[in-house]
Amino acid sequence: MIDRFGRDINYLRVSITDRCNYRCQYCMPHDGVKNMAHEELLSFEELYLVIHQFVNIGVKKVRLTGGEPLVRKGILGFIQSLSHITALEDIALTTNGSLLKTMAADLKRNGLHRVNVSLDTLKPDRFHRLTRGGDLQNVLDGISEALNVGLKVKLNCVLSKDINIDEIVDFVKLSRDWKLDVRFIELMPIGENVDYALKHYVSTQEVLRLCPDLTPTEALDPSSPARYFQLPDAIGKVGLISPLSCNFCNDCNRIRLTPDGKLKPCLHNDVEIDLRTPLRYGENIMPYILEAINVKPEKHLLDQHKTIVRQMSQIGG
Ligand code: 5AD
Ligand code: SF4
Repeated sequence: MIDRFGRDINYLRVSITDRCNYRCQYCMPHDGVKNMAHEELLSFEELYLVIHQFVNIGVKKVRLTGGEPLVRKGILGFIQSLSHITALEDIALTTNGSLLKTMAADLKRNGLHRVNVSLDTLKPDRFHRLTRGGDLQNVLDGISEALNVGLKVKLNCVLSKDINIDEIVDFVKLSRDWKLDVRFIELMPIGENVDYALKHYVSTQEVLRLCPDLTPTEALDPSSPARYFQLPDAIGKVGLISPLSCNFCNDCNRIRLTPDGKLKPCLHNDVEIDLRTPLRYGENIMPYILEAINVKPEKHLLDQHKTIVRQMSQIGG
């Protein structure tokens, strides 16, 4: 489906829960976020229906996000049902990695293709503090298990002055020996964490400054927001995702679904289209889907300090 600005919308990001077993400092407010009630969340049957409609109008890739998607019971069966939709070429998941050690094999078996693991520090104490209780080793084991069972893996590292500016080189080095891509993401002002984000923002340029050995490589997926680089003789690549310093809205091919059934045409815009109400009234939801694509804005206005109300943990990045 082509939008008003000629962009082919073929990628749906589905946040299946607002809950998370971590509470990362930059993602959730200190006291956490009030959980949505169970009946507010779309059921897996409803999610399947919505995703199927999107596939009918050209969506080829679905990514499940959260909160933490792996804490939602029934996710394996859900992924299996998605894997039977033949026109859906790619099923991916974004996770904090905490449950991968036990779940990676089942995820692969049920039809998942790849995982993005969010990992912002390689220091156990820091990790414990940042996630407010997480165990780094557990996540590292989860990453190796995912690689072992044959899932494609990317690490997503959000740059912050507060957390990891002294670990950039260590993260880049991971790409030398591990068969995975390490991607650095600029911290975005979202929800209640605007002040934090503005204070601790680091440009992805810093990665190139600290690692002059990185050379640009060809992008395999032209709609990926990452620009890719590689160390000499490295197995993996290094990606830079720069929503602030280098806007990629022109090539944006995605649309988002929140756990409570709202379509978000743009991450950085408060416009939401309610799918849940028509869905539960048994109405045809296609007109709402088409409207969401039709109102997708041309670009975000982060440079004018426009941000959104909904928390990141309720959208899933
Ligand atoms: N800016 C950039 N990335 C963020 N994430 C969460 N909050 C922010 C933010 N403010 C990332 C998480 C995870 C993904 C879902 O989004 O680290 O990788
Ligand atoms: Fe951290 Fe991701 Fe959970 Fe947010 S959703 S608290 S970034 S693990």
